[in-house]
Amino acid sequence: MKTMQLSTRLEKVKPSATLAITAKAKQMKAEGLDVISFGAGEPDFDTPENIKQAAIKALQEGFTKYTAASGLDEFKKEIVKKFKNDNQIDYETNQIVVSVGAKHSLFNIFQTILNDGDEVVIPSPYWLSYPEMVRLSGGEPVIINTTEKSQFKITPEQFRNSITSKTKALIINSPSNPTGMLYSEEELRAIAEIAVEKGVFIVSDEIYEKLVFDSKKFISVASLSEEIKSWTFTVNGMSKAYSMTGWRLGYIGGPKEIVSKISSLQSHSTSNPTSFAQFGGIEALKNGKQSIDKMRIVFEQRRNLIAQEIGKIAKLSLLLPDGAFYVFVNISQTGLTSSEFTEKLLESEKVAVVPGIVFGSDDHIRLSFASSDENITKGIARIKNFVDQL
Ligand SMILES: Cc1ncc(COP(=O)(O)O)c(C=O)c1O
Repeated sequence: MKTMQLSTRLEKVKPSATLAITAKAKQMKAEGLDVISFGAGEPDFDTPENIKQAAIKALQEGFTKYTAASGLDEFKKEIVKKFKNDNQIDYETNQIVVSVGAKHSLFNIFQTILNDGDEVVIPSPYWLSYPEMVRLSGGEPVIINTTEKSQFKITPEQFRNSITSKTKALIINSPSNPTGMLYSEEELRAIAEIAVEKGVFIVSDEIYEKLVFDSKKFISVASLSEEIKSWTFTVNGMSKAYSMTGWRLGYIGGPKEIVSKISSLQSHSTSNPTSFAQFGGIEALKNGKQSIDKMRIVFEQRRNLIAQEIGKIAKLSLLLPDGAFYVFVNISQTGLTSSEFTEKLLESEKVAVVPGIVFGSDDHIRLSFASSDENITKGIARIKNFVDQL
């Protein structure tokens, strides 16, 4: 009898570890255990009411059919305005594709630009889906390690030294998941100029753009020059800024000819993102600023609280994140690997965190502060208890 053979592409791919840990903590909670989870990769706020109402209205008015595969023109027009006003980038609607979340936007880009064996430079620590998406698209992730010394940012020298004849793209994620670090204009320019010189695409994942603290300035790399823009894909979405993770809306701005290929790819895979969800997206971009500001202020207060509480634990240290909603905590003084730390902590104190190894660093754990003040105070006290006993 013939043996079953599946795609070899998928053999190399691991399931998302962050989703697995969040699921385990949820299951323990459902069993009645008093679990505190710092695993969440999403804001804990509800989607703002005006955004929900816009989608409900669209449903009631019968917008329940296919839209253009690359998204509604009205939505694209709002995205163009957003890029212009918030990011100082001039795109036209034919340079935009709306997809089923920024994750999907990123996946579409790698599917479109990579051939087998092409290399993609990924600064580590990295969002765990990047290497997997690259592999799924036939590419090779080239992981470049960074540490606290360079604030977890890739230096121009590191980038230059990582480039080979096969290098196709560099991923920049600012502010970063998991480190929260933000690249300055100067840092971005130095890196981007190398990319242009060497003909390497920049995939700029700007999903945490709206969560930046201490009045720091977020810079879109594509805004730095027309030449840099011509090598850049600017990726963003509604999930983190507007607390719309379940709506699955993300978008790309990029070079027209390539974006049109991405649009074709999407037309033969998912087709359009959900029609009525797109109306929620339009409302968010038109009238969502107030909600963003409110959430950002709360996240900044929580960041301060979690950093203050972790500061009381002698063996742990962290760099204060500039943005996003994670702290990447150095545990190297505990003598445990990140997986050991995570497993023992969940077992003994019922606190869920994510081991840094899934983001490329075994010296760290990631804690999300998309959680109430009460949970933060209580949870970090439990972690202190755990670490103090080691
Ligand atoms: C760095 C980064 N990029 C992209 C995404 C994907 O967001 P979306 O919900 O729009 O697919 C996430 C979500 O966790 C993320 O952390």
